Amino acid sequence: MNMKSLKDIPEERIFNLIEKLDIRGPRYTSYPTVPVWKTGDFTDYFIDSLKRISVDGKPVAVYMHLPYCNSRCYYCGCNSCITRDNDKFRSYLDSIKREIETVSGYFSNGASHCQLHLGGGTPTHLPADMLAELLDYFIERLPGTSDVDRSIEVDPRVTTREHLRILSDRGFRRISAGLQDLNHAVQKAVNRIFSADKMKRFVDSARDCGFTGVNIDLIYGLPLQTRKTWAETIKAVLRFNPDRLACFGYAHLPTKITHQRAINEGDLPSSRERLGMLLDANRFFTENGYEAVGMDHFARPEDELAQAKSDGRLWRNFMGYTNNAGLELLGLGCSAISEFKDLFVQNLFPPEPYEKKLAAGHLPIIKGYKLDGDDVIRKKFINNLMCNLEIRIPSGGKRGNSETVDDLRKSMNKIRHFEDEGLIVPDGEGFTITPLGQLFLRNIAMPFDRYLSKESAAAFSKTI
Ligand SMILES: C[S@@+](CC[C@H](N)C(=O)[O-])C[C@H]1O[C@@H](n2cnc3c(N)ncnc32)[C@H](O)[C@@H]1O
Ligand code: SF4
Repeated sequence: MNMKSLKDIPEERIFNLIEKLDIRGPRYTSYPTVPVWKTGDFTDYFIDSLKRISVDGKPVAVYMHLPYCNSRCYYCGCNSCITRDNDKFRSYLDSIKREIETVSGYFSNGASHCQLHLGGGTPTHLPADMLAELLDYFIERLPGTSDVDRSIEVDPRVTTREHLRILSDRGFRRISAGLQDLNHAVQKAVNRIFSADKMKRFVDSARDCGFTGVNIDLIYGLPLQTRKTWAETIKAVLRFNPDRLACFGYAHLPTKITHQRAINEGDLPSSRERLGMLLDANRFFTENGYEAVGMDHFARPEDELAQAKSDGRLWRNFMGYTNNAGLELLGLGCSAISEFKDLFVQNLFPPEPYEKKLAAGHLPIIKGYKLDGDDVIRKKFINNLMCNLEIRIPSGGKRGNSETVDDLRKSMNKIRHFEDEGLIVPDGEGFTITPLGQLFLRNIAMPFDRYLSKESAAAFSKTI
């Protein structure tokens, strides 16, 4: 099997490939992807799922969305709102508590959570006492299992020691901090200034408060970044000794995300530069004790994500790569997504309509998707491709599957040319994706997506 590592492949060859394969497409954080979902009333399906989960008696993973931030980072693609208004915090808190109360009421046999992730926005932009109030309220109604795994994503610029203590006291052990880039000119261009020294102090403080898993988010492809400035950033990041790193490619969608228009497009690096940065990060981190996980994550071998990768528990959802394969995910808060066996639902965004709906006594769901048999098979297939780097046609047999299996087989013909390019190699049971192919996972997955057309792909960000 030709499984050459990226370091052994001439850059020029990779650049030629990127020119050929530089297209737009989904990140496959869900299948079917969000544009395929439908607006409408998914409340009954949602309630049925909650009841079923309660009867099954299995603990759930929970995602809670806290949307507020202190200031606007121009690149931001997250569902976030800028405010410093305490009344808004209070009103949001009361609404999410109402949602927790309503949802937990449908767990007639009771339920517990084995994972809790707080995301945003910036959850630690909430005053520390409010965060404590919310967590205590939630844990009382949906208690954690004895081995519960709680994590949070934060903006280190606003996260205080008090926040860290409150979280640690409630069993949070993993923290993910956005850094993005350390170069001052880049930071100015995206309106996010933070020094390496402050970041070091933040990480030390988190460890001191009991966090054993520290993740740092970086973005490549930001305005004014060059391979030279990026090399300085990734070298400096090593000093913080994170357990895990995420290197996201900047998704620039100014027609949809209007604040991104503050970014001067002429300052954005070319596709070649972008890929160069990803290659540099890959080389640098893998030479310095990290394993590449999926498309854009790097983890120390002892980190839970690297472990999940080696024992097949890696999963991909809208938070990116996670270790919650097989768990059902309950989303709380505005814009939050729930992912059940055969159902996706998403809550309203921004906070105002979300709050209004709850105040009127309704669940705040805006859209969703009920998966049919074909979707369930393709979802598993695409997740296996994105997480385990395997392309495996499921065995036919079950009634109703055969058409999907035939269609997936036909789609295999559309990826054969990737074998000539060295992105995939046959392995007896199908194909394995090579380290080079790992850069092009989105391209490799796209032919198996039943809903994707040239036109619909154009609405997504660049695949590299
Ligand atoms: C929900 S944000 C929350 C992080 C936290 N508020 C902060 O800024 O530090 C999670 C991560 O998404 C990434 N991100 C945000 N906008 C992005 C974009 N347009 N393209 C790629 N990554 C993006 C950033 O790396 C960010 O740290
Ligand atoms: S990157 Fe983080 S801090 Fe900046 S606006 Fe987005 S969510 Fe808020």
